[in-house]
Amino acid sequence: MWQGGGVRPLRASATASRARIARVAEALGPATPAAMASPTVFLVTGCSRGIGIEWAKQILARGDSLIATCRNPDSAAELNAVLAAHSGPGFAISLPLDVASEASIRALPEAIAATGKTSGVDVLVHNAGVSAPTHPVDPAETVSKAAMMDCFETNAVFSPPPLQPRPALIVGVEQVGPMLVTQACLKLLSPGKKIFFVSTAMASMERTDQASGGGSVSYRASKSGLNMVGRLIAAEWGLGTEADLAVTLCHPGWVDTDMGAAGNRSPPVQPPDSVSGMLTVIDQMGPQSTANFVDWEGVSY
Ligand SMILES: NC(=O)c1ccc[n+]([C@@H]2O[C@H](COP(=O)([O-])OP(=O)(O)OC[C@H]3O[C@@H](n4cnc5c(N)ncnc54)[C@H](OP(=O)(O)O)[C@@H]3O)[C@@H](O)[C@H]2O)c1
Repeated sequence: MWQGGGVRPLRASATASRARIARVAEALGPATPAAMASPTVFLVTGCSRGIGIEWAKQILARGDSLIATCRNPDSAAELNAVLAAHSGPGFAISLPLDVASEASIRALPEAIAATGKTSGVDVLVHNAGVSAPTHPVDPAETVSKAAMMDCFETNAVFSPPPLQPRPALIVGVEQVGPMLVTQACLKLLSPGKKIFFVSTAMASMERTDQASGGGSVSYRASKSGLNMVGRLIAAEWGLGTEADLAVTLCHPGWVDTDMGAAGNRSPPVQPPDSVSGMLTVIDQMGPQSTANFVDWEGVSY
């Protein structure tokens, strides 16, 4: 039985990963060269560390624009160093965003407008996430309501349901995480723009047998909720609807970050490989992006 506390690692070698990314990119055809187009405006959540800080580095390195959000930009030293070192051609700004706070989410569009940098977003990347404090040890036997609610609020979907039925017009005010961030940013996303969810293979319904490892209940259940949110967003605002947005869900690999290495584990994928793969996936988003699920190498699930 796999002893890593979560699902079995999918890939081992970074070199093999890069080769597969190149093959997938070649098979899918050329992306628009960044140098020939105006900078793409990315909005990324959870940029203070881990995969998030790597999004900031690579988006700016390829000349695109970045709205880097995190809970507390003032104390995000590494992010601030990345932004300070930036020299264009795109812009680089940071804004506060706590994706578990409805007030913080509601304030975001106005905060973006106040910067005077952009009136729209081309790619919304839902990256921020949490796991249980004991991650990856969080079995059904001991999982707590607090851990489950924390994961659900940040990673996906809902705070506790209201005690009384609400009128239809205000259903949704208790939704937080990527659902409410997308809702708040909808007016910034014109037709043809992209929404990218950083999900996880651990959310797979098929990978819940004993051989794949149980446990991590809070995290895995919340990310399954995220996948459903992604599907429903694609149904309401996806390609072919009036909003006409491309939507993709992605497993970033088992990545060497605070979350990935929790419990003294040794993830096989480094953040630069994960993010460069995911940027290739984003560049190739198109007619297939109706809430499709792929990994960071572009391989469909
Ligand atoms: N690492 C992996 O192996 C792996 C595998 C599959 C999926 N993922 C997913 O990849 C994403 C990034 O994970 P990671 O490995 O980089 O984790 P990480 O190192 O623990 O970083 C998590 C990031 O999310 C931010 N965050 C947490 N709660 C937030 C909130 N309420 N509002 C705004 N930001 C918040 C954190 O900000 P603070 O600094 O303020 O805490 C931090 O920047 C997550 O969605 C995770 O579920 C990771």
